[in-house]
Amino acid sequence: SLMSLGCQSRVASTDEIVIGHFGSITGSEATFGISTDRGIQLAIEEVNAAGGVNGKKVRLITYDDKGDPREAGSAVTRLVTRDQVTAVLGEVASGLSLAAAPICQENGVPMISPSSTNPKVTQVGDMIYRVCFIDPFQGSVCAKFARENEKIKATKAAILCDQTAPYSVGLQEEFEKAFIAGGGTIVSKQAYQAGDQDFSAQLTSIRASEPEVIFIPGYYTDVGNIALQAKKLGLKVPMLGGDGWDSAKLGQIAGDALNGCYYSNHYSHEDPSPRVQNFIKLYQGKYQETPDGLAALGYDAARILFSAMKTAPSLGGKDIAAELAKTTGFEGVTGVISMDANRNPVKPAVILEMKDGTPRYVATIAPGE
Ligand code: PHE
Repeated sequence: SLMSLGCQSRVASTDEIVIGHFGSITGSEATFGISTDRGIQLAIEEVNAAGGVNGKKVRLITYDDKGDPREAGSAVTRLVTRDQVTAVLGEVASGLSLAAAPICQENGVPMISPSSTNPKVTQVGDMIYRVCFIDPFQGSVCAKFARENEKIKATKAAILCDQTAPYSVGLQEEFEKAFIAGGGTIVSKQAYQAGDQDFSAQLTSIRASEPEVIFIPGYYTDVGNIALQAKKLGLKVPMLGGDGWDSAKLGQIAGDALNGCYYSNHYSHEDPSPRVQNFIKLYQGKYQETPDGLAALGYDAARILFSAMKTAPSLGGKDIAAELAKTTGFEGVTGVISMDANRNPVKPAVILEMKDGTPRYVATIAPGE
């Protein structure tokens, strides 16, 4: 079940491997945790159907952190101390991964974030990994796209940043650096707090600064509300964001208010490669919906963990972590994954364009391009 709370958790028997997931199953980023959990469960079902990991069945315990850093900390403390999980998967939001990573590091339990892109997450220590690219890359991808895309060709950008999210603050800095390095100017920098309802003051200042693009490195609920209010104010400038936009809810909130707006992401469901299309078929068969990037990253994170467990000399944290560090050329749904010396994969990003509430594939940008 999605939430194995309290009663279901127990110390692992020797014929199974228990792994933990902490995620936002409820709250304003709920689709992040739900999609990730679905991706993880699909990977578990697959590995168990094939006999498990070296003959042991994998069992998942998921806790809802409600998108709250304190809840994330206590969920992970519970996973490592009471449930004694072999490894931890999570979180999506960088701020929540940062809250929990020190607990995994201190307890010697490997943690893989499927999707936290802030560089600081894996800097916590040698127990902490991720399967996504990081924000210095994502910020430069967005800046390059804003400068060079035929429909944007921006020299002047405004930024609207969620000052409460380490992800948003970090990605804003990376975009700003790269946009200026590419010859552009930042004409306005505005801030909001996650959950704000009224963005009219910030959007009015932005409008007065006459930008050619507005960079909004936020999460989907806020971005959807921002887009609706920007439309009401008559702002026609294209908006651009990062992976935090990745949710079916974004289009449901904003509809055509985001037409002509773009975001960078880890995956497109329109990628014709068999690797992606086979995953989509499996996922749709189980959940009757098209997977988003979070689902794909959750699936990849779980599969990389199982692969490391299979080759590790033991299921001790140090042994699994040492195998994770060696990951090279792993064929993930979200691209080929190789860990660098800092436990960060180097892989391409895609740019998606919102059309009547649906993200459509535009381009792939590889590192170093
Ligand atoms: N990268 C975001 C963060 O670090 C989380 C995210 C990843 C959101 C992928 C959506 C899709 O906070």
